[in-house]
Amino acid sequence: MINTVSTTPYSDQKPGTSGLRKKVPHFQQKNYAENFIQSIFDSLEGFLGKTLVIGGDGRYYNRDVIQIAIKMAAANGFGKVMVGRGGILSTPAASHLIRKYGAFGGIILSASHNPGGPTEDFGIKYNASNGGPASEKITDAIFARSKVIDSYRISDADDIDLDMPGIKSLDGMEVAIVDPVEDYAELMEALFDFPAIRAKIQGGFRVIFDAMSAVTGPYAKEILENRLGAPKGSVKNFMPLPDFGGHHPDPNLVHAKDLYDEMMGPDAPDFGAASDGDGDRNLIIGKGIFVTPSDSVAMLSANAHLAPGYAKGLAGIARSMPTSGAADRVAEKLGIGIYETPTGWKFFGNLLDAGMVTICGEESAGTGSSHVREKDGLWAVLLWLNILAVRNESVKDIVTKHWAAFGRNYYSRHDYEEVDTAAANGLVDNLRAQLPTLPGRKFGDLTVQTADDFAYNDPVDHSVSEHQGIRILFEGGSRVVFRLSGTGTSGATLRVYIERYEPDASRHDIETQEALADLILVADEIAGIKSRTGRDTPSVIT
Ligand code: G1P
Ligand code: ZN
Repeated sequence: MINTVSTTPYSDQKPGTSGLRKKVPHFQQKNYAENFIQSIFDSLEGFLGKTLVIGGDGRYYNRDVIQIAIKMAAANGFGKVMVGRGGILSTPAASHLIRKYGAFGGIILSASHNPGGPTEDFGIKYNASNGGPASEKITDAIFARSKVIDSYRISDADDIDLDMPGIKSLDGMEVAIVDPVEDYAELMEALFDFPAIRAKIQGGFRVIFDAMSAVTGPYAKEILENRLGAPKGSVKNFMPLPDFGGHHPDPNLVHAKDLYDEMMGPDAPDFGAASDGDGDRNLIIGKGIFVTPSDSVAMLSANAHLAPGYAKGLAGIARSMPTSGAADRVAEKLGIGIYETPTGWKFFGNLLDAGMVTICGEESAGTGSSHVREKDGLWAVLLWLNILAVRNESVKDIVTKHWAAFGRNYYSRHDYEEVDTAAANGLVDNLRAQLPTLPGRKFGDLTVQTADDFAYNDPVDHSVSEHQGIRILFEGGSRVVFRLSGTGTSGATLRVYIERYEPDASRHDIETQEALADLILVADEIAGIKSRTGRDTPSVIT
């Protein structure tokens, strides 16, 4: 039976960079998840009888909200839901299912790389029929609706057994519990030269992958071990756990330190990689060398034609504004378009749908292509492996040759987490106020060329997104960017992005923080980071 339940609105259900993210106890408040899901449905039109994909990264509270979402989908008139077995779907796999089966959209339950558990993070986001995160127009409508919502619709049927594959029915709606891995693995096999990668691995090339006790475990086991022949045990931490084993499932040098240490050790494997909570981020490390995500976008773009799925070349490349300009030089050489978008994968959707770009990337360990409408961790790993198999060179050789050909963009991001919100806003307001006076100012050897508050004019739908980060560009191509995170769940996180372009190959082996030292000091001088936040050092340096 369908019930209409009265409810009262919450004022804080504004989706951030990637959906609504809050602590689990916050989500457990009465009707909190129900209100948000109903607000999503109320903001959509034309889904009666259509299919909705539902899945998540397996974190704590995943199964509970999946049951709620299924029952609300039935009550709101969807004809069918496709749910990953066990409630599991990586974010890129969910995007693929939506596209492959022509679903109306999808609900993805994840807080990405944030920790999980009873007092940690949870999240809900809506993806549209192109498989990508809902546009700002839709997320604004969801937020507006959530502020006035007074009832939601839900079936009172029993819970669905999420672990039993097959077709079931719930209040007249079909519920298909599907294998979360199969369709995705098939897609990867269509894009990449699996026999070449398999032969490379059989020839002794050693690969390790850290699934960080998160969603990519089953995907990586199937693809790397079963289909590509990597020895059992190559995929570490492959069981998705509700609390990710107590770790942050964030594939960076801080949270994947064990992997990093192994890759820098004397007996390092040839290739090490990791993915995050929901499987859309990647970390790539060669024997003795970490590849920054910004460099990875550039290097994958320069070599993508070596993989069968990209043999025809790329239509264009897009990168988020704070991502380094390394990809721009590749686009220039290839004679293809390069687009600079605000932070967040949703801004790539229009460019991909319009066929203007093939590869997209963000400095925050996100890389992907037109095969889905999300960034895709394992995709990046497999493209690297395909390139390595064809070029038959080490990661280090590929990276150093790339720098020699294109120049090196030294790059680092400094995060100041859980900063007082008022102090963080004050810092950004103060920067904004300084913008008109900065051009021409000298700081030691550095002269400010331009300074602005980044605004994006979408070339496809001509929508404008303002206040996407403060950019200070110096003569010679160095820059510092400041923005506040839109994914945090407590206090504010200030992100400072620092970049220097170095064309001279004899200066390509400087330690990154050293190569950026003067810019780091100037960033503090202009923004007053220490004085305003009371922090002496960043919480995380990537
Ligand atoms: C962060 C990253 C951004 C990424 C997002 C979702 O957002 O910086 O590149 O798209 O997570 O994974 P932020 O917290 O900076 O708003
Ligand atoms: Zn993620």
